[in-house]
Amino acid sequence: MSNSAVDKCPNQPLPEYAFIGRSNVGKSSLINMLVQRKSLAKTSGRPGKTQLINHFVINKNWYLVDLPGYGYARVSKESKKTFQKFITQYFEQRRQLVLAFVLVDIRHEPQPIDVEFMAYLGHQQIPFHIIFTKADKLKPMAQTEAVKKYEQELLNHWEEMPQYFITSSSNGQGREELLQYIDQLNQSLKTQP
Ligand code: GTP
Ligand code: MG
Repeated sequence: MSNSAVDKCPNQPLPEYAFIGRSNVGKSSLINMLVQRKSLAKTSGRPGKTQLINHFVINKNWYLVDLPGYGYARVSKESKKTFQKFITQYFEQRRQLVLAFVLVDIRHEPQPIDVEFMAYLGHQQIPFHIIFTKADKLKPMAQTEAVKKYEQELLNHWEEMPQYFITSSSNGQGREELLQYIDQLNQSLKTQP
């Protein structure tokens, strides 16, 4: 189901996980990799492909949500500061949301817009984890180094490094780990009083 407004999103009481990040970071590709479908979520080399809130129901058990990218390279510095309104409405109103996965390209150092978005989530008390994407572009050693560098940078803003996953949509790296993590979380939500 695709929507442009949060109040039209599906209202089954299923736990929901949002995938968000800068445009072109590989959100839609990661979603397709997770569900092992070539083109469930639309991907493109052109930033800004995903323009709606897209809900995918997984095993009738949870919702995976593909959100539009924030921060186009094209928009001015000024407008970069405000995230698209319906993104903030989604995060501020969506009660089913369990946590957000903030996607970042493993090859890049923390970008101001990502750091700002994590701060925004923190401010809203929305739990989030980081997903490093496009890991296939680096060798294993370089992956570890890149993450270490990212962590050092983030520790200027956070007391500890958020939990993270290293993934590649090209070769499936991180798929099992991520799905298992979500499954476990869903289980623990069910057993909560
Ligand atoms: P928007 O919807 O436009 O915000 O972009 P998105 O974040 O959904 O990115 P999308 O999945 O469309 O991928 C953007 C580009 O990155 C495409 O050319 C993908 O083929 C490429 N890409 C995505 N994931 C990976 C990956 O794990 N490895 C490599 N090598 N390329 C990737
Ligand atoms: Mg997309």
